Amino acid sequence: MIEQTLFIIKPDAYKEKLVGKIVTKIEESGFKIIKMTLKKLTRKEAENLYYVHRDRDFFEPLVLFILEAPIIALILERENAIEHLRGVIGKTNPKESEPGTIRALYGTNKSRNAVHASDSKESFIREVSVLFPSYSIT
Ligand code: CMP
Repeated sequence: MIEQTLFIIKPDAYKEKLVGKIVTKIEESGFKIIKMTLKKLTRKEAENLYYVHRDRDFFEPLVLFILEAPIIALILERENAIEHLRGVIGKTNPKESEPGTIRALYGTNKSRNAVHASDSKESFIREVSVLFPSYSIT
């Protein structure tokens, strides 16, 4: 089934000038770019993006990190996009990620892990509403 997912290149990767390499890997993994924007989030947008983590002890550092620099947000499409992209990016902790995954290649630790991908259709819908508020999901 062709589906869409949301992908974020985080401030650590942006500051290290890794955007081009990461987008190339995404395209080489069979994704079509539907939308792409560079955006400096507001505090409110950052809190909304990470709403599900609001009660975790890492919430405040997570919000401060995502506000460090612009992010690049993309809506991507391919067969089985959500699950496939999770495989391409690797685990939350780059040190536990498969070699060759984006986080293994470019992440530093659990907090500064270079990229994000929606983990479900529900997350995709919520994340799109924060990052692409005028986009209507079909
Ligand atoms: P992401 O895929 O963007 O979704 C939520 C983020 O929370 C996750 O990547 C990590 O960067 C961060 N995160 C999850 N667990 C932890 C943790 N135990 N410590 C610090 N950050 C975490």
